[in-house]
Amino acid sequence: MKVKGRKIYIFDTTLRDGEQSPGCSLTPVEKLEVAEQLERLNVDIIEAGFPAASPGEVEAIKKLSRRVKKPVICALARCIRKDIDFVREALKYTKRPRCHVFLATSKIHREFKLRKPKEELVQIASEHVAYAKKYFFDVEFSPEDAARTEYDFLIQVVRAAIDAGATTINIPDTVGYAIPSEFGELIRQLVESIPEFNPENPKVNLSVHCHNDLGLAVANSVAAVKNGANQVECTVNGIGERAGNASMEEIVMIIDTRADFMDCYTDINLAEITKSSQAVSRLTGMLVQANKAIVGKNAFAHESGIHQDGVLKKRITYEIIDPARIGLKGSNIVLGKHSGRHAFRERLTKLGYQLSDAQVDHAFAHFKQIADQKKDVYDEDLHAIVADELARAAQMWHLVSFEAAVHAGGTAKATVTLRKSGKNFSASATGDGPVDASCRAVEKITKCEGRIRKFSIQAITAGKDAMGEATVTVRAKGLEVTGRGSSTDIIEASIKAYLYAMNRILAMTAKPRRQQLSQV
Ligand code: KIV
Ligand code: ZN
Repeated sequence: MKVKGRKIYIFDTTLRDGEQSPGCSLTPVEKLEVAEQLERLNVDIIEAGFPAASPGEVEAIKKLSRRVKKPVICALARCIRKDIDFVREALKYTKRPRCHVFLATSKIHREFKLRKPKEELVQIASEHVAYAKKYFFDVEFSPEDAARTEYDFLIQVVRAAIDAGATTINIPDTVGYAIPSEFGELIRQLVESIPEFNPENPKVNLSVHCHNDLGLAVANSVAAVKNGANQVECTVNGIGERAGNASMEEIVMIIDTRADFMDCYTDINLAEITKSSQAVSRLTGMLVQANKAIVGKNAFAHESGIHQDGVLKKRITYEIIDPARIGLKGSNIVLGKHSGRHAFRERLTKLGYQLSDAQVDHAFAHFKQIADQKKDVYDEDLHAIVADELARAAQMWHLVSFEAAVHAGGTAKATVTLRKSGKNFSASATGDGPVDASCRAVEKITKCEGRIRKFSIQAITAGKDAMGEATVTVRAKGLEVTGRGSSTDIIEASIKAYLYAMNRILAMTAKPRRQQLSQV
């Protein structure tokens, strides 16, 4: 059996750091909805908020921690006793509470924000971890801006926090400044210097918390895990301050997909990833970019014909993750101008059509024409294409081309070319508008005059480039029949519908072949 390696704890801060994204504030009810989804996702720790922010935040965390029982519920405090007291109040109904205290340690923050010397900061950190420890067994300490803190001073603060009772030390790259090899090396050195972090048997958890200012939050977190960190702080969809936090779904899927390299695992319920992403996006109003790894709309979409052919033959040719594992229905084969015949035929089969090779060839050519005019070709378009194809196959006449022009005063002139038994026939006619003129030209060629009794046109797909479907009821030779045709051009759709109706009339009134032969 494959050894799973070390367990990596997933500390989700969507409801604290994520909620700090501009415009992302959640109501208590929305916070609860996210927390319940995070529980289904099986995160180990939920950072539910910063109670000192407002009385409403305290109430929201209280409410949430009464309902969400499985994960550890954590709340944040500055190194201020009052902040820690707010955490006590907010977490008082929590089964497994954690108090998270932080203090900035980098030179920049010491000099410009806190204006305090190093020794005093070590003392403040130690005193407040000890204060939190009086009320909580589980205390996390974060030296804010650790990635820009001098290494010797960082060790000093971390040591003091552990001695004061911290059970988790979190190393934040607060401003997303670190480079993966550098951040990995920092974690390696911390593991080497602090025996409590021993990855084989950790007495104190070593956590990382990376921001994405240079787009490296996930890479830095992964480098840290590789070098001995056993907790990763992250958010769903990577939301958070400025460019965001490390994305939960990316970290979890890296650990899962590259278990061979990472040698560790998480307890995340992968099948809940998509739902979690959608819930957070819906509730925060932060849209997920289409090409976002794992949860973007295009993450499992294939448009190129070569890729579609590969995926349909064997999914793993172009997909390293089975979309079903993260709660998606399957890969998304997007039909567009780059798509190939294999994907086209496959989709027709899924839609229930069994066409001959020749019919598929013809329908595929029609599909390519449409794909050149539209960005995406939807199933409704395909139904229309097949309807046209089936009509064409059953028809005597089919449309090759047309030209229609409207003149001043409303009369129009149209020239239509139809094909029958491998030969083209053209005719021109005038009429009240381009559709009427085209239908008159069709009548000249087919030598069958008809009267349109009903005519309607409707869009069958969305957007400016929508497909239109025309429906006509035609009376000719004592019969009344209906015809349908579709195209992105409504005149073309109308001619096809009219021609379809005419063909049906001609077929119904044609003499049986046997009789024709006997007359010869
Ligand atoms: O980015 C940061 O440094 C933080 C700390 C409070 C952990 O969010
Ligand atoms: Zn942060």
